[in-house]
Amino acid sequence: MAVVNVGSGGPKVRGGSLLLYGGTLVSNEGAHDASQSGVSFERLGLYREGALLAVDGVVMAVGQERDVREAYHALPSGKRRSVVELSLEGRVVFPGFVDAHTHPLYVGDREPDFAARLDGESPVLGMAYTVEQTRAATDDVRERALAAHLRTMFRHGTTTAEVKTGYDLRTDGELALLRTIADVAKRKAMPRVVPTLTGPHTHSPEYPGDDDAFVDALIEQTLPYARAAGAVYADAFCEPGYFTVEQTRRYLVAARGHGLRLRLHCDEFADGGAAALAEELGLDAADHLNCMDPRFIPGLARAGTVAVLCPATLWYMDVPRAAPARALLDAGVRVALATDFNPGTAPCPSLQMAAHLGRRLLGMSAAEALVAVTSAAARSLRLTAGTLEAGARADAVIMEMAHPRELGWSFGGNLATAVVAAGEVYT
Ligand code: NIG
Ligand code: FE
Repeated sequence: MAVVNVGSGGPKVRGGSLLLYGGTLVSNEGAHDASQSGVSFERLGLYREGALLAVDGVVMAVGQERDVREAYHALPSGKRRSVVELSLEGRVVFPGFVDAHTHPLYVGDREPDFAARLDGESPVLGMAYTVEQTRAATDDVRERALAAHLRTMFRHGTTTAEVKTGYDLRTDGELALLRTIADVAKRKAMPRVVPTLTGPHTHSPEYPGDDDAFVDALIEQTLPYARAAGAVYADAFCEPGYFTVEQTRRYLVAARGHGLRLRLHCDEFADGGAAALAEELGLDAADHLNCMDPRFIPGLARAGTVAVLCPATLWYMDVPRAAPARALLDAGVRVALATDFNPGTAPCPSLQMAAHLGRRLLGMSAAEALVAVTSAAARSLRLTAGTLEAGARADAVIMEMAHPRELGWSFGGNLATAVVAAGEVYT
């Protein structure tokens, strides 16, 4: 008897060539030059009787069904034969979602912290517990945890995800986490992954009370090997009570010297002046920004830094302020919405939920939220993703909705009926 592993989720349409038709399609190609503030779905690229043709995992044509079928008929007959037709039956297609800030490589849960906070008490476990659990686990358990988390994100429509380390902290351990990310990312039914070394994530038990010495060790011992182990980005938790602006600057400047690009947790729970580093260091992404000093907003705009906002933490934690999303948008800063998926402050794997919270808590519209979970997030990773247009990787999400304005309206369910990754369809 054939044995199938629960959740192994192979593609329902293989080979990467397909023709989607019979629904509403938002290409998001307008996001390249439209202002995100006040943008409409029409401006982003809305096709009512829309269709999409992908061949070998790459988008060939997007638009009205009539035009896309013409492109199909112009294919050489061999290619035409490989194309599988799929009716959307009136559903909505968006570009695959891009999650620009996640911590899914952890072992163990932190439910007791949640329960304690609900009882008005201080959390008992904290990040130290997650570090302890992640360190103590076998490679196999860590891999399984990461794969399960990434697969859940994928099932909710995330076809690209930034993935951070930061729950080991030791040199060998962090490099091993980077290798785990690279290994797991090769599997099917997973988002495409961009790995980030988050060395200064929390205080290291090896350097009690001495974060400076910990940062020195990261700079001298870990950063030189990070790129070879797969890291593309470096990040730190720049926050009062964690790492100072000076420690963060030292770490990020060294990281850049080792070929890593830079993104940063900034002023999540309190203002420590981290947002100033966006312009000073030319960060690709400044994340959270709940308590940022608004004086630094123009600096983000000048530097082309994407503000990666994580409203699930606002919902889950007691955060004194919400990020100034409207002021950022008005200043011309691109705003992404990310889950911040992690066990301590945002156990939320769904960008559909992040879009809802972006609307509910940050005052964003449905079309602004779509840009935020697609092309703005991709821009923060300096990746070509988040639009459906000729030449793009055919990553899309088919949503159980009749109009795209429903994005972030309905919440608590998973409206992704199918996820398309490089032209392969997963249901
Ligand atoms: O973004 N900044 C730290 N990282 C997470 C918290 C992680 C944890 O509590 O385990 C964050 O909120
Ligand atoms: Fe985070």
